[in-house]
Amino acid sequence: MMLTGFGNHFSSEAIPGALPIGRNSPQRPAFGLYAEQLSGTAFTAPRADNRRSWLYRLRPSAAHPPFTAAPPTPNHGKTAANPNRLRWNPREIPAKPTGFIDSITPMLVNGDPETLSGVTLSTYACTQNARNQVFFSADGELLIIPEQGALRLFTEFGLIELAPLHIAIIPRGVRFRVEIPENTARGYLCENHGAPFRLPELGPIGSNGLASPRDFEAPTAWFEDRDEPFELIQRYGGALWTTTLDHSPLDVVAWHGNLVPMKYDLRRFNTIGSISFDHPDPSIFTVLTSPSDTPGRANADFVIFPPRWMVAADTFRPPWFHRNLMSEAMGLITGAYDAKAGGFAPGGLSLHNMMSAHGPDVTSWQGATDAVLAPHKIDGTMASMNESCWPHRVTQAAMAQAQRDYDSVWSGFAKAQIPK
Ligand SMILES: [Fe+2]
Repeated sequence: MMLTGFGNHFSSEAIPGALPIGRNSPQRPAFGLYAEQLSGTAFTAPRADNRRSWLYRLRPSAAHPPFTAAPPTPNHGKTAANPNRLRWNPREIPAKPTGFIDSITPMLVNGDPETLSGVTLSTYACTQNARNQVFFSADGELLIIPEQGALRLFTEFGLIELAPLHIAIIPRGVRFRVEIPENTARGYLCENHGAPFRLPELGPIGSNGLASPRDFEAPTAWFEDRDEPFELIQRYGGALWTTTLDHSPLDVVAWHGNLVPMKYDLRRFNTIGSISFDHPDPSIFTVLTSPSDTPGRANADFVIFPPRWMVAADTFRPPWFHRNLMSEAMGLITGAYDAKAGGFAPGGLSLHNMMSAHGPDVTSWQGATDAVLAPHKIDGTMASMNESCWPHRVTQAAMAQAQRDYDSVWSGFAKAQIPK
């Protein structure tokens, strides 16, 4: 049983009577539970943006030993700003047992957690359950995008079963651990340092379309009462910090509020496009947006390219050539992406930074130029894009793994012939 609705205020209790009624911090919560507020926005954020939840738990989160800085992971530092287009093959599933948290590899970084801006885009590839390792990010909310293998997320708010073609949103600071029921899992992680993701405005589209609030699912309250050593790892200031507790921090017996982890099935996205001519801007595919302080300019847009009908008349239908103010990082969850004939496999990644010219490769361009324009369906595919107003820096690890010949996909275009 899941709770549904994006931004809704929910209440849930794993034990009847655990949730206070009519007040947030009663003098004596039921069963001696500890009341704790988790804020996802400033206290005084406008009501429409304000997010917070109240948690009722076996022990206060404050009861923990000091965190110590984990040794820096080699090659996670940023390289210099680089205008080149870059692309990566899918990473290997590790041969040695590796848990979800240990496998997270930052690839693209922009903004700065300390200025509450930007995103860090990572990949994960894991083979091992780490039942006593709990993670949270103080640097941002997490968008988890599985590409291969299911994930079972045990969060402070309850359980989320995640599979490829789902996404999960874990609010900043929410603790969770990960099990992998299929023994291997691979995918993408977007750590959003800026304003929390929300659904985009719909404007003239009207009151329906794109991602529907009702399709976002929150877990019901669940807790584990395990008095045994747990490593608690947090990302703080771009680094990892660790401490060891003598109990599971996933001990929230009841909660209420509108700051909750959520799951969304990307197949429920209502795709909207042209039914006359021209390929619309890809903003039409926005699932979630994290606004910046400038209206209409996103700190991060999470965009998908799902199965859809192509019907536009007299139109070059794939994504056109363009140079974008925004910086685009793409991943592929399944199938093929319609602007590239090869080299971009599921689990791969590409980067087209601010003002980097890009578009279809020669083969895709030629195919779309020669196509007889009957309606046809693009099927069996799901690509995703993170579009951000801040250019990305590539990590040292990512730079070392980038494909060497990506530029060549735009070679071989014949010169247009002007009549003499
Ligand atoms: Fe693009």
